[in-house]
Amino acid sequence: MSTQNKAVVLFIGDIVGKPGRRILAENLENWREEWNVDFVIVNGENAAGGFGLTVNAVKKFRRYGVDLITSGNHILDRKDEIPAVLQEDIVLRPENYVDIPGKGVWSGEIAGVSALVFNLEGLIFMEEEPKRVNPFKKALEIVENSSEVIKILDFHAETTAEKIAMGWLLNGRVSAVLGTHTHVQTADERILPGGTLYITDVGMTGPFDSVIGMDKEGIIRRFITGESERMKIAEDDIRMNAVLLEIDKDTGKGISIRRIEIGFDS
Ligand SMILES: [Fe+2]
Ligand SMILES: [Fe+2]
Repeated sequence: MSTQNKAVVLFIGDIVGKPGRRILAENLENWREEWNVDFVIVNGENAAGGFGLTVNAVKKFRRYGVDLITSGNHILDRKDEIPAVLQEDIVLRPENYVDIPGKGVWSGEIAGVSALVFNLEGLIFMEEEPKRVNPFKKALEIVENSSEVIKILDFHAETTAEKIAMGWLLNGRVSAVLGTHTHVQTADERILPGGTLYITDVGMTGPFDSVIGMDKEGIIRRFITGESERMKIAEDDIRMNAVLLEIDKDTGKGISIRRIEIGFDS
C-alpha cells in the first residue's frame, strides 16, 4: 500500500449516446466507491445521440456523479443547445477554439488540492471549423500561467503522433495528458519521465458492435458508395473505457495510470 498523499481521478472516454449514458447511470456510484475516486471527468461530445451534448444530459451526468465534462469537435453539433450547454460550469469545449462561447479551462479543487483541467483540440485530420489556434502554443500558455498543483489535459485529436508530441511537450509540466477522439483505446499508457501520466487514446464508452459507436452496416455502405447517409447509434456489446489516475497531492506528479475496459451485457 502506498503511503503517498494521493488524489484519484477517473477519466472516462467519449460517452456515446444512450447506451453510454446508461452505463454511467447504473455504475458510476459503485466505481467511485470501489476505486476511491475523488473526481470524475467524462468526455461528453457524443452523449446526445452520438452528436453533441444537451443541457438535459449535463443535468443527468451531475446526478450520476460526474464532476466535469470535456469535449471536442462534436460539441457544436447540437446547435439548438448551444450556447446553453457551453454556459454550464462543468462543461469544457476545446480552449483553442476561436470565437466560440464557453470555456476550455476549469480551475477548482480535486481532493482538497488546487487543480486545473483543460481541453484542447488537434489540427491534423480534423475538420477546418471551428477556427482553432495552435494547441501546442495554447497548452504552453495555459500551463505557464497557472499555479495549480494538479493539471490534467484532455487532448482531443485524431493522430497518434500529434498526441504523443503533446505528451512530451507537457512532460513534467502537468499531471496527465489524456488523448480522446478516435474512440479506440490504445495500450500505451505510461508515466513519462517527468512524472506525467499519458495515454494516446482513452477510448469510448458505448456500443462496440459498431464502427466507433455507429451502426456498422450504414458506415460500411457509406465507404462503399461514397454517399453520406444518416448515421445511427449501434446497440450491442456495450463497454466502458477509462483510465484511473493516481496523482501525488504534494507535487502534482503522476503516481500511476491504469487502463480500464469493462464489458456489459446489452
Ligand atoms: Fe468522440
Ligand atoms: Fe471527437
